Amino acid sequence: MKGKTILVTGGCGFIGSNFIYHVLSARPTWRILNFDALTYSGNLVNFKELSSESASRHTFVHGDIRYGNVVDQLFADHEVDGIIHFAAESHVDRSILGPEAFVDTNVVGTFRILDASLRHWQRRGKPKDFRFVHVSTDEVYGSLGSEGFFREETPYDPSSPYSASKAASDHFVKAYFRTYGLPTIVTNCSNNYGPYQFPEKLIPLIILNILEAKALPIYGDGKNIRDWLYVIDHCNALVKVLEDGKPGESYNIGGEAERENIQVVHLLCDLLDARLRREGRGPSRRLIQFVMDRPGHDRRYAIDAGKLRSELGWSPKHSFEAGLELTVDWYLAHPNWIASVQSGEYRRWIDLNYESRDRNDLATS
Ligand code: NAD
Ligand code: TYD
Repeated sequence: MKGKTILVTGGCGFIGSNFIYHVLSARPTWRILNFDALTYSGNLVNFKELSSESASRHTFVHGDIRYGNVVDQLFADHEVDGIIHFAAESHVDRSILGPEAFVDTNVVGTFRILDASLRHWQRRGKPKDFRFVHVSTDEVYGSLGSEGFFREETPYDPSSPYSASKAASDHFVKAYFRTYGLPTIVTNCSNNYGPYQFPEKLIPLIILNILEAKALPIYGDGKNIRDWLYVIDHCNALVKVLEDGKPGESYNIGGEAERENIQVVHLLCDLLDARLRREGRGPSRRLIQFVMDRPGHDRRYAIDAGKLRSELGWSPKHSFEAGLELTVDWYLAHPNWIASVQSGEYRRWIDLNYESRDRNDLATS
């Protein structure tokens, strides 16, 4: 892929931004075409720290994957050699309160970008090294009991409108390989954390609430288990898949770091207390509040990433504890970024999600 142009959809979101930083530095001949609608979770300010050399290989195009004419124009204006498709509505709680946007962007939007990619690939003479990498989630597999792991052949069994929409999009991506031969690959990754994550997800939400001495909301009994992966380890896996992954295949990606939510929150409290050493304030653990559970809340996710390890030689480089320290330090060093994403929309969401939990009446809006 030397000197190639990679189209990154959703490049202004959490994982997309980290991916762009990572690739521009790890692959000095690649160019990135970043196509993003700049929804509440997408931020151009994320690229403030790109070096001028990296910035010269990053082109931003403002656009929405839901609109066929916009996507067609993108491919008419640019030649692309590979695609990493991140753009999505990504938050389970938002999908519970407003599922339709998830169908529009994750299912219809993915179909539009996939279909336009097929025509682009065909027009260019079906190059063999072209890849469409669809970035999906382990949540498509549903919930595990106390034993076992998700493998690539585990049947899909999604619980939330978010995971159902991702599952539907995965099926379209696989169908385009089988039906038309488009060289697609699906990756199913566990929960990411790290810099630039929008503070509606557990880890950044808890960091910000500790900083502001606000309640730390834990759904249900706090014993739901997630597998956590530092975002740069995910980006590294995606580069390997893009370069060496086999078309038509799926790859599971995980951090070998299963933790109960309450353990994650305790760790964050202790890390921040050690760094802030604030006089006159008790330990942050006192802010923990158990709140109404998420409906359809999956109990446990755990990934067997053996295929990626044995076929492509990938393994995570950050332990959960080391990654969490890097993450906490990043948020402490970026108060301006935090202020810039805590817009009216952010406050509206916090009121909607947590006040309705207080009243015990979550409903679609
Ligand atoms: P995010 O919400 O931070 O970013 C999503 C990006 O997509 C934003 O920049 C947003 O502006 C853009 N976008 C949304 N709708 C769009 C549209 N209609 N057209 C164009 N752009 C649009 O999400 P994230 O956490 O970075 O996740 C990225 C991808 O990775 C998603 O597909 C998600 O399902 C998947 N994933 C995320 C995780 C995780 O833990 N965050 C884990 C596994 C897989
Ligand atoms: P989240 O970060 O929303 O990711 P996902 O739902 O995709 O796994 O949530 C991670 C876990 O944390 C999940 O089990 C729900 C829980 N959670 C809370 O307990 N409180 C919260 O305020 C949030 C946002 C999540």
